[in-house]
Amino acid sequence: MDPPKSNFRVVIVGGSVAGLTLAHCLLRNSIDFVVLEARDEIAPQEGASLGIHANGARILDQLGLFDDILDSVEPLQRSFVWSDAGKLISATDTPKILHERHGYPPLFLDRQTVLEILYKHLGDLQDRVLISKKVTSVKQSPEKVLVHCEDNSVFEGDIVVGADGVRSTVRQHMWDYMEAQGFTTEVSKERANTMMTSEYSCVFGISTPTPGLIPGTVHRTYGEGYSFVTVSSKDNRIYWFFFHKMDQTYTASQIPRFNQAEMDKHVAAYLHKPVTGSVPFSEVYKRSVSKALLAMEEALYTHWSVDRWVCIGDSSHKMTANMGQGGNSAIESATSLANSLAGLIQRCPEKNPTVQDIHTCLKAWETERQLRMKGIWRSAYDLARLEALATWKHKLIAIYIMPYITKYLVNRTSAVIVEAVQLDCEPLPPKSLQCTMPYKSHDNYAQPGTDQTWKRALLTAPLVGCYAAAKVTMETVITKLWPFAVPLLTQGVWTARNGETLSLTRPLYHIPFLDNMLRPLITCFLPSISGSDPRSHIQILSFMADLGPVYGIWLLESYRKAHSWHQILLPVAAGIAFQRKGIGKLAPIYYAAEYIQTPLSRLLSGNNCEVEPATSGSLIISMLAGYYLPTLANFFAPTLESRQQYNALWQLFPVVIPLLQGPLYVVAKRCFSDNPTQPKQGRKKSMRCMRCIRYAYGTFALVSGLTFIYARFSAPPGASITSIFWPGLQGYLAPVTSFSEGIARFLQYDQVISAASGFVWLALRFRELKQSGASFSWTKAIGAMVACTCAFGPGATFALGWGWREEILHRMSGR
Ligand SMILES: Cc1cc2nc3c(=O)[nH]c(=O)nc-3n(C[C@H](O)[C@H](O)[C@H](O)COP(=O)(O)OP(=O)(O)OC[C@H]3O[C@@H](n4cnc5c(N)ncnc54)[C@H](O)[C@@H]3O)c2cc1C
Ligand SMILES: *[C@@H]1O[C@H](CO)[C@@H](O)[C@H](O)[C@H]1NC(C)=O
Repeated sequence: MDPPKSNFRVVIVGGSVAGLTLAHCLLRNSIDFVVLEARDEIAPQEGASLGIHANGARILDQLGLFDDILDSVEPLQRSFVWSDAGKLISATDTPKILHERHGYPPLFLDRQTVLEILYKHLGDLQDRVLISKKVTSVKQSPEKVLVHCEDNSVFEGDIVVGADGVRSTVRQHMWDYMEAQGFTTEVSKERANTMMTSEYSCVFGISTPTPGLIPGTVHRTYGEGYSFVTVSSKDNRIYWFFFHKMDQTYTASQIPRFNQAEMDKHVAAYLHKPVTGSVPFSEVYKRSVSKALLAMEEALYTHWSVDRWVCIGDSSHKMTANMGQGGNSAIESATSLANSLAGLIQRCPEKNPTVQDIHTCLKAWETERQLRMKGIWRSAYDLARLEALATWKHKLIAIYIMPYITKYLVNRTSAVIVEAVQLDCEPLPPKSLQCTMPYKSHDNYAQPGTDQTWKRALLTAPLVGCYAAAKVTMETVITKLWPFAVPLLTQGVWTARNGETLSLTRPLYHIPFLDNMLRPLITCFLPSISGSDPRSHIQILSFMADLGPVYGIWLLESYRKAHSWHQILLPVAAGIAFQRKGIGKLAPIYYAAEYIQTPLSRLLSGNNCEVEPATSGSLIISMLAGYYLPTLANFFAPTLESRQQYNALWQLFPVVIPLLQGPLYVVAKRCFSDNPTQPKQGRKKSMRCMRCIRYAYGTFALVSGLTFIYARFSAPPGASITSIFWPGLQGYLAPVTSFSEGIARFLQYDQVISAASGFVWLALRFRELKQSGASFSWTKAIGAMVACTCAFGPGATFALGWGWREEILHRMSGR
């Protein structure tokens, strides 16, 4: 292999899975490096094994190492799960299915062998890997990092990479550096004792062939407070793990270091437990050729990089070993870091990048990488607890549910694997192209945390509840209202409280079909817009103002790039329907449909969540003209007749807004069109999209908020704000005393239920963001929602909540 050409030099601390993989990946990108390893040999035998899954295997294959690995293993085919009593819980071909789907069989081998292969393939550049170099401190100067070793040697580089495992020295010095830069609160959170914990210990080892265990199989035993994983590989070499829940959860500084002499005592009570139906643990244990006991740490740090520092592998994301993704994740982190560094160097070919360039590059890498790691880390965390039946819930899931949903679980694993990192500078290996389930390429990189459609459908249960509530309450009130409405409509005259009369039959649209259809609806609004029922007047004013954000947001959702033009039919159809039946009934249906139809992954891939500035801009204007103006005119036009006329216009808004928007869009498109002399810049463009979105939700929130405040302060004396907006849980059962009173109550339910279903939808959307790695606190979010609803009303809250989601989406789509 050619020696690296670039002037950019990476000092890698730690020559294990992460460090050596990074060395290979840098080499492929012609980036200079040196590896400093504390131990005095590269590949010591420590009794540890490493499971390699397709996500790690594909990278090793790109690096030309996979065939050597395959030579030393027996690919896994079958997987068994046993109970504490030695009863079979499930037997599946999961490893074989994963092999067919992803091109690489799951496999196990000595960690020593993996390190040997990694080292061997460095060829001439093995001399870049220095052993017996224990790093003691790292310092950053403006131009460089200086890495000091115990033997007083010093290494210079442009960046330092901490690949030095769970008790990382580089991370300690990175924290010191961050503190010196003033990030004291961030660092104290990271240093906090609770950031790294340990709840399970692990005795692991390698044994000689054990009768009853067949090569290519993996056995798991789920016991209360413990679990086994036993793998039989090539020539029946046995890799085994005994996980045991410790007496307490230890935090970083208290995590015990076990005396290896305690091991026999530690396993004594479990020797008779089954690793398969017929093989007790003692049979495996007594054949061990090497073994070790340790407490397994768990930690997922928030800061992986700063300026010229970066930590990969166990120094940033340490997991329990149950899932066997620790090493694979270290491989992925190393590879994605190399991809990012290569991009950085390509962007500034003449000179070395500045510390600011490096920092920006590393932070972008960190954000993207954390998105994927959070999901994997969480699964590993859960699996450790499931297998050791940690609580009754885990027990229920592990023993009574999981065996029946193995297909679904394999699909979950596959969903994680297809999004694996690849080394960008090397072609994809044939094995990875001949599989039945293709990997996602970087262009359509979807994020983890997307549930399957049936699960999304189940999650809409609260919306079904909203619909049911709307149906029961609103229909009951309408039935009781009917005896008051019929005479009114047959007489055709409305008498306001001040004695003013109004014809209900005069044509408003001059289209008989519309007049006939909408007459009863317009009549329903007369008590409130005529002011004859002052409390209802306030409620309806606020309600109508709040419908603006709701409908505006529905339209915006349908305008995203993820959708084709006919998506607009969903909000328009829902809008027409809710004008007739009440939004309380229709909103839950719309939200459920929208949620099931559009998972987050669809919005995050590419620039799918964007709404063109011309679209959102023209929407704001058509909302102001086609919605807010007629709404205000409903209440403030001078005569009763004109208010009635404006209400007739208002009734049509679900259609009027999009129609108004059409020509406005064409005009806006001209104004917003890109200056042809300037090349389109993705980032700038997306900033502009975001600015328009901010104007949109800002306008919605402002109008609704102001209206709500106005309504509050103009409430008639003696009327409490709750009595204006809240119909009461049992309110629909009370008899209706007049047309106005009945209508007011109907519209209260309409508003409360539509607002509630909007919040449910937002909660579902935020849940999905959180699953994909967005960080926010539910307590704070719900607290803010309640406070904001009390102060500014539900409409403004909904608009702001949606806006917050847009901000997170914008950040997550990485622009
Ligand atoms: C019992 C057990 C079983 C596991 N099984 C699996 C599995 O089946 N599949 C899987 O994918 N993962 C598994 N893992 C996890 C996997 O071993 C780790 O995730 C992986 O080794 C992490 O690699 P790393 O390079 O980040 O860190 P490490 O492998 O911990 O390597 C850190 C290296 O840095 C060196 N170092 C430390 N400090 C310094 C210093 N100051 N100066 C210089 N060098 C230093 C160390 O000597 C070491 O070589 C298992 C882990 C355990 C504990
Ligand atoms: C799992 O994925 C396969 C292939 O995509 C699909 O055919 C199958 O229906 C999925 N099964 C479950 C239970 O999700």
